[in-house]
Amino acid sequence: MIAAAAALVALPIAAAAPWMQPADSPAAALFKRQNGPPNPASPDFATHYPPQGQPPNGTWIPQPWLDKLKSITLPPNNPVATLTGCCTVQYPNIAQGGMSPDICSFTAGCHTPTDFFDAPNNTFVLTFDDGPGDASQTLYTFLKGNNISNRATHFMIGGNIVGAPSVAQEAFNGGGHIAVHTWSHHYTTSLSNEQVLGELGWTMQAIADLTGGRIPAYWRPPYGDVDNRVRTIAKAVFGLETVLWNRDTNDWKIGSDPAYTIESVKGILDGWLNGPRSPGILALEHEITSATVEAFMAEYPKFAAQNWQVSAVADAYGLDWYQNAVGNTGDLFATLSVGGQVNTNLAVTARPTSTSASASPSADAAAGSSTPSGVSSAETSAKTGNAQNNKQNAASSVVVPGFGALLAAAGALLAFAF
Ligand SMILES: *[C@@H]1O[C@H](CO)[C@@H](O)[C@H](O)[C@H]1NC(C)=O
Ligand SMILES: *[C@@H]1O[C@H](CO)[C@@H](O)[C@H](O)[C@H]1NC(C)=O
Ligand SMILES: *[C@@H]1O[C@H](CO)[C@@H](O)[C@H](O)[C@H]1NC(C)=O
Ligand SMILES: [Zn+2]
Repeated sequence: MIAAAAALVALPIAAAAPWMQPADSPAAALFKRQNGPPNPASPDFATHYPPQGQPPNGTWIPQPWLDKLKSITLPPNNPVATLTGCCTVQYPNIAQGGMSPDICSFTAGCHTPTDFFDAPNNTFVLTFDDGPGDASQTLYTFLKGNNISNRATHFMIGGNIVGAPSVAQEAFNGGGHIAVHTWSHHYTTSLSNEQVLGELGWTMQAIADLTGGRIPAYWRPPYGDVDNRVRTIAKAVFGLETVLWNRDTNDWKIGSDPAYTIESVKGILDGWLNGPRSPGILALEHEITSATVEAFMAEYPKFAAQNWQVSAVADAYGLDWYQNAVGNTGDLFATLSVGGQVNTNLAVTARPTSTSASASPSADAAAGSSTPSGVSSAETSAKTGNAQNNKQNAASSVVVPGFGALLAAAGALLAFAF
């Protein structure tokens, strides 16, 4: 096997990394794709994905996602919320509404210990939601010019990604951390379980397809609208961590609420600049309009000058950027824990194991054994994100150095390229 593996390594490596999950990995079952990912340069690229702007439904929900959903336990007493008008979500028959500990809706003001809410001291966690969009490239140019492309997390909308795949790839190739902001930007607590699957899964699929197979590890609910039902689906089906915010720039109100202007948003940021550093700032910012981007660009240099530690989400908590990769470059993990379940069956596969026989757990794996998926009991108090508590995915993954490159070469031969 060693000789065979060495021979495979010697093959020319395809320029475009194929989809590189081992055939038996949970990710392969959840995100199977035959004949490689769709070509973003092709005019029919978007037709490989659900229609933009609406929750994927019907035949757009793959059976493996439905099977995985059936296999998990959803929290009791957390019904689907009703959405009234544009933006009121309610739980009509529940006395405490969204503040019920069984529900813990962030729209109602509740978050859980597993949510990413506060930031570490002195840290400004930089996030931009709703891209890729018209203002994205201005932002990416600015980030690059300030050498901080890799210090921002972009919570992208799946429909926007397939509408502008080259812009999404620009964020990724520039070094940005890519994460999930659902497919169609709906209030997720008002969606059925199956619609939540479609909203998260297809956005993950689109990101993975454009990033050489990287499975996102983080998602942020549109409008912050999440409850225990949706948290559980995100984590137990897809392995996604829920990222909220502890400070809102309100930049998203520029243009719709006259009280908010570029100047007022800059004022909010100035307040943070000189405000408390404990906890740090996990900010809500957007790359939707030139105004939101302009406010950030005007303020960033001040934060840098005052020694705020500007950081992408994962780095702020000492975590990997993706479920199956440390970052945008380097190898993918050979195994992946989607939804907290570790695949223990790898030894029997035909993958080129020789070079991985000596695979050692990653640095993160030392953190401990896998932890249960799902959601801890609700609490309304602020709690600082705890890297150890949030390490469950990384802790149960195994890194196999060189495996990604090996598969890139071997993919065609061994039919591992999904
Ligand atoms: C999916 O949703 C679209 C629009 O919301 C609707 O037109 C279509 O009939 C739905 N398809 C199924 C199979 O439910
Ligand atoms: C970015 O990095 C380059 C190369 O290290 C350096 O020349 C440049 O001054 C840096 N720019 C900023 C704004 O820090
Ligand atoms: C963060 O700052 C607070 C207040 O200064 C301090 O009590 C706490 O120990 C700090 N946390 C860490 C991890 O340093
Ligand atoms: Zn949004």
